[in-house]
Amino acid sequence: MPGFTDLHIHAPQWPQAGLALDRPLQEWLNTYTFPLEAKFKDLAYAEKVYRNLISELLANGTTTGLFFGSVDTDANLVLAKICAQLGQRAFIGKVAMDNPEQTPDFYRDNSSKEALDETKRFIEEVLKLQKTNSADITPVITPRFVPSCTDETLDGLGKLAAKYDLPVQTHCSESIWEDQYAIERFHKRDAQVLEQFGLLTDKTVLAHGTQLTDGDLELLRNKQTALAHCPISNVYFGNNVMRVKDAHDKNVKVGLGTDISGGFSPSIYRNMQQAIMSSQTLQDETNQNTRLTAANVFYLATVGGALALHLKTGRIKASFKADLQIVQDQYYELSSNHPQEIFERLIYHTNKENIKQVYVSGKLVHDNMGENNGK
Ligand code: GUN
Ligand code: FE
Repeated sequence: MPGFTDLHIHAPQWPQAGLALDRPLQEWLNTYTFPLEAKFKDLAYAEKVYRNLISELLANGTTTGLFFGSVDTDANLVLAKICAQLGQRAFIGKVAMDNPEQTPDFYRDNSSKEALDETKRFIEEVLKLQKTNSADITPVITPRFVPSCTDETLDGLGKLAAKYDLPVQTHCSESIWEDQYAIERFHKRDAQVLEQFGLLTDKTVLAHGTQLTDGDLELLRNKQTALAHCPISNVYFGNNVMRVKDAHDKNVKVGLGTDISGGFSPSIYRNMQQAIMSSQTLQDETNQNTRLTAANVFYLATVGGALALHLKTGRIKASFKADLQIVQDQYYELSSNHPQEIFERLIYHTNKENIKQVYVSGKLVHDNMGENNGK
């Protein structure tokens, strides 16, 4: 099968995947997440966590990741180097967050100037790494979300995205709280605030979007902006299920994200399963067209993610990159071998142990064949 794209993941949150998910978003951020991300100033800690995370993602069939790093530029460069070493195709952002009203003293950019200067330094260093290592790593403009940034920072980041022609990633209308925050501060919808600052482009990926209105979806379609659907995380923080079918009907690009650690699982398989399950709960008497199939979510994890990032991946086809996973159907001998049924079983039953090999751009990056069954 093609390798998967994880279109939204917070690399420094890996140590708390599965922890404290009984708290609402704002409390989870302030009590657990910001203190954890602040620890990545310690580069030895960053090295240890990031090496473990990237190996885990490759072992789960994720060949491309769109990562939020932390505020600290040097820790983000550690992540970039590890992705290059282990062969993970990666898009990585230095998180910008400088609004003293919404971020703690111990974890923020100290000024808008610092947020923008450090973003520039990160971009320049990653562009150098690209040249020296032929690494497939792209820097990404990354305002954490509207609440954590000042107007100056949002404005400056929009200008940097245009100047360097780079992708942008942020959270948008993830929860009722975030959705209402934009209205109180700007008297606009969250997506309109991003548009105002030049942050809605055809290279922008917005995470979650569970509270988006039809008008918001039309704005995203007009800007060719993509959505990262994070179905596990949304159960905890989204206050709603994202309307994937409505987004597609309006020609908005959609891919799948784990949102580690708002979502607890590093597996895109696990997220495909949840996307199908959550979509069933949107059905009611007036709306029967919400249900996602196994083929629909496979599209999100492969073609959807690739379109969002303008990559020639996600399909096994001439002229596309050879991002592949060799997967074993565990129940082949017990059940039918009709192709459609093999496919559905793979979506519902594949675990890390069944993923035998993973390739990125034709290079073997994970090998689980074992010495005795390697033939
Ligand atoms: N909104 C702002 N920061 C975060 C984060 O780290 N995770 C999630 N799920 N939402 C956020
Ligand atoms: Fe997130």
